[in-house]
Parts: sequence; C-alpha cells; structure tokens
Amino acid sequence: MCGIIGISSNKSVSSSIINSLKKLEYRGYDSAGLATLFDGEIHEIKSEGRVNHLEKNFDLKNLKGTVGIGHVRWATHGIPNSINAHPHSSHNVSVVHNGIIENSTLLKKSLSDKGHKFKSQTDTEVITHLITENLKTNELEEAITKTLKQLDGSFALGIIFKEIPDLIVGARRGSPLAVGYGPSENYLGSDSYALKSMTNKITYLDDGEFCIIKKDQVNFFNQNGKKINKKILELTSDELSYEKGDFKHFMAKEIEEQPTTIKTGIKEYIDNLNNDVNIFNFPWKINEIKSITLIGCGTAYHSCLMAKYWFEKLTSLDVTIDIASEFRYRNNRFKDNSLYIFVSQSGETADTYAALNLCNQNKMKTCAVVNVIESSIARDSNYVLPIHCGPEIGVASTKAFLGQILILYILALKFGILKNEIKKDDYLQKIKDLKNLPILLEKTLLLDNDIQAISSTFNEAKGSMFLGRGFSYPIALEGALKLKELSYIHAEGYPAGEMKHGPLALIEEGMPVVVLAPKDSYYKKTISNMQEVIARGAKVLLITNKSTDEVFSENIWQTIEVESTNEDLLPFLLTVPLQKLAYYSALKKGYDIDKPRNLAKSVTVE
Ligand code: AGP
Repeated sequence: MCGIIGISSNKSVSSSIINSLKKLEYRGYDSAGLATLFDGEIHEIKSEGRVNHLEKNFDLKNLKGTVGIGHVRWATHGIPNSINAHPHSSHNVSVVHNGIIENSTLLKKSLSDKGHKFKSQTDTEVITHLITENLKTNELEEAITKTLKQLDGSFALGIIFKEIPDLIVGARRGSPLAVGYGPSENYLGSDSYALKSMTNKITYLDDGEFCIIKKDQVNFFNQNGKKINKKILELTSDELSYEKGDFKHFMAKEIEEQPTTIKTGIKEYIDNLNNDVNIFNFPWKINEIKSITLIGCGTAYHSCLMAKYWFEKLTSLDVTIDIASEFRYRNNRFKDNSLYIFVSQSGETADTYAALNLCNQNKMKTCAVVNVIESSIARDSNYVLPIHCGPEIGVASTKAFLGQILILYILALKFGILKNEIKKDDYLQKIKDLKNLPILLEKTLLLDNDIQAISSTFNEAKGSMFLGRGFSYPIALEGALKLKELSYIHAEGYPAGEMKHGPLALIEEGMPVVVLAPKDSYYKKTISNMQEVIARGAKVLLITNKSTDEVFSENIWQTIEVESTNEDLLPFLLTVPLQKLAYYSALKKGYDIDKPRNLAKSVTVE
C-alpha cells in the first residue's frame, strides 16, 4: 500500500533513497518524500505525485546527511497532496508509515491538549507527535516501546531523530518490514524488492518487533523492549526480472512471460520421468482432509473460484471459497478436517493475512499459494506452494494469475489420484496435456492484432459484460476486472445463465459483450445465452477455441479462437485475449498501465 525505505550509512543517502523509492512506486504513487539528518536538523522534502517530481522540484544535492528515510504513498487518511505526503516531522522526530492507526483521532486530541500542533490530515503525524511526547520522559527504547503499545491498528514505521543522528528505528505490526545489510551501511525497507538492488542479505521483522539500525550494527527488540536475535536470509538475486527489457510496460512483459511461468511451474511440480505430480513434504495424510476452503482477494479470489471447479470435477471433496475481507468477519464454522488455502501473489494482502491469522488462532491446517516466498502469508502458513513466476511488477496481475491456477490445478490432480477419484490413465493424459500448455499459450499470445483493433469499441462504450459458464465463469470475472482496473471502464463479469434474471435489462444496441464459449461441456448452453444478448442488440465478442464444430449463431460481431486442448486447461488460454484486451484498451486511452489510478500492487491495509 505504501513504500518505505531507510538508510544509515557512512556516506550521503539521498540519491540511494530516491532510487529505492522508484522501485517502491508499485506499492503506491500518489505522493512521495524523504528526510535526512544533517547540520543538527531534520531536513524534509516531499511532493504530490511521482518520485521524479521530487527530483524536478528539489535540488537533491543539497540534501546531505548519512541517515535518512523515504516514502511513497497510497492515501488512506487525507487526500494525496504535499502536506499529507510522508515523512511527517516534528522539531525532533520524523516518521514514514505504512498502515492505518485506528485510534489516531483520540490520540490526536490528547496530544493537541498537550500543545502539539498538527499540519496534516494523516494518522501518521499522530505517531510523530506521540514519540516526540514520550521522548520527553523516556530513553529511546522505552519511548518506542511505550509508543507502539499506545497505537491501535497496523504499521510499518521508519523513524529518525534529530538528537540521535546516527540511527533509524523500524517497527512492524501487520504491515511488512525488512532490514538489509550492506557494506558500511544498513537498510530498512517495506520488502526485499526495495532492498535487492543494494543487498541480498535480509531480515524480516515479525509483528510487535522493532529494530535500531546504525551504519555498522542492527539490534532487534520484542514488544517489551527486550533485545532478541533474528536470522539473516540470503535471497536469490533475480535483478534481471525486475527490469522491463525492451517491453513498453511491465504488464506487457508479464503477459508474454506466461508460457515460461507455466513451464517453470510444471518443472517444479511435475516429475517428468514418472509423469507424476510432486507435492513435496505435504504435512497431512490425504484422508485427513475432508474439505477445502480457498481464500483470496481480487484476482487471487478468481483463482480460488477456478480451483473450486477443478477440485469438484477431480475429487469428491467439499470445496468452499471466500473473499478474504468477508471471511475474516464471518461467523466461521472451523472444521479440523478442512484445509484452508490462502492465495496471494504478494503474500502481504492485509485481508488475506488476517484470514490466515484467524485460521492459525483456531489451529486449522493452512496452506499458502504465493509468489513471494519470504512474505508474511508464506511465513505464517503451515505449508507453502510457491508459484515461481518471478517478480510481478504490473499492478494488474497477469502471469501470477496463471501461476496460481496452475498450482491449484496440479494440487487438485494430486488429490484426485491419491483419493483414487481419477483413473490412472486420465491422470497421465491430463499431465501430458498440461506439458503441452506452454506451446499453446505461445500460439495464443500471437492473437495480438485482432485484439488491438477490437479494444477501441470497448473504450467508446459506457460499459460491457463478460459472460461465461462453468470453467469459463471465473475467467469472465477476471477479464472484467482487468478491463476495469486498466481502462477505468465499467465492466461486469457474470454467469452466462444468470443474464435473464435481471442484467439482460442492461443490454442495449451496440453494447460490447464478451462471451467465453469454448467447445466444452457448457458450450451449447452458453451459445443460447449469447443469442439472448445478440437479440437485444449487443455486439458480441465471442472467444472460443479452434475446432470443427460450427458456432450456431449469426450476427456475432467478432470471434477470437484460441488453441484447443483438454477442457480443464481451456481457462488458461481464454485468459490471454482478455488480458490483452484490457492492455490495449488502456494503451489507447493513454493511461498508466503498470500503475493504474487509485490502486497499489500490494494492499497491506484493510
Ligand atoms: C489484480 O489485477 C489486482 N491488482 C488485485 O485484485 C489483486 O489481485 C489483489 O489485490 C490481491 O493481491 P495478492 O494476490 O497480492 O493478494
């Protein structure tokens, strides 16, 4: 949701902070700022908009200092402007924050009564003044411990002090925070991605912990201010995957990377020699699991819905899915024999993490399907199934979606064969078909020009519908979400069979409607739903697969044919044209494709 960086060094830090902030903009980008300590003062610069506005509006060469903090913001409290931008400083303390302080109003009132003056509308500024107040009567570690205990809500904090100019304090509760170790300098960052260009030696803070970072030493403390030891991880360096290469946008690169995503996932989970699924060190016996609950947000929720169809087809398991922000407040009936699967690209989504913590508190079996293996959700789950798709920088999820549904499909296959609910021959054939999927994806990715031409019609419309049945329904939802979040056009994913129960009233002459109708077991029914909308004037974009069967309907505006394969796998192929449709629509509108308005890559607040 927001990005934090801090550096304590033996040399000037402002340019390194700016470079790290640019890498962090995927976490939020409506304003940015930094503060350093020099000449016995806190020097703060900040502005609305992107990090490069800071470079344009301020002469960073004048921002000296070997200790500093920086921040890119996704607004929660207070509109995006230079006053609400972080850092927030008092005369002797400066703070950057990711999270939400739920008792900020009360604290602000009591601090104002003590004479503190506030400049911004943010909850973060309350933290600044609370620490300032507590430092009047406490040493540093006591003041920090006391302050953190007075805060309700979530935070990742970076804090510097005028009177203690050689250190940075970091603190974490509910929002990710990492420490990095460099040569004669040390770092604080929202995640390893922010730090990877400077170091691959990382320590993650856990909830309730804080740290004191100097250029040559780092100390960690628990919530009672007691010193603790933490391990240092050495992360793989995959710097290359963090660059766009010759693609115009990260999203374009990540769409084209999908065949590789699938190849990598197959290599990780399919034993090529025995044509068998390898789910290593699965901690439970298969007969201990009588039901499955899948939980996620946004695209990750669509992966859960997709998995439900596959688990129901391949096993006899009872499968429930839920949106994490609903699950966490539902009066859940926890079942010991249920496996709770948390799907999350970032592994830091607050609602999904909260749902996981709820299951952990109830001692449930928990499994994470994530892309970031050092993330909070991965660290706090009993078992992790990484999707191995490399960093996904574009805010709109593409390759991570395919990576998620691949792992979930493979898991369903394994459950099915272990429970003797799939015949061995079928199992082997499905694995063979799966191995052929990357080539089919490569061919489907070539459907470029057709889609570019079509996308302008969606731009001119006031809204559109995406319809599908069965395996295609989750993909209809995903396609609609992509168009919404990239082109800011209203688009609604809907079960094709449901249109006649109300939404058909939306259809008017010339309205673009995407109908996903591969020649699978739902085909004929979906085609008749398609005819219902054509009869009311809709311009139907039919997305189907190549086959000899004819589509029985005239007046179809456009048809796109993806490659044919086993019907289980058609959702992978149907997704690609929808990703490209959203991409080209936004490109034609001139919108920021990798950082759409109002969004952030990892939503680490409620
Ligand atoms: C997907 O394109 C969106 N950016 C969003 O819905 C995203 O999938 C959701 O916020 C969940 O993120 P996660 O997978 O990192 O948990």
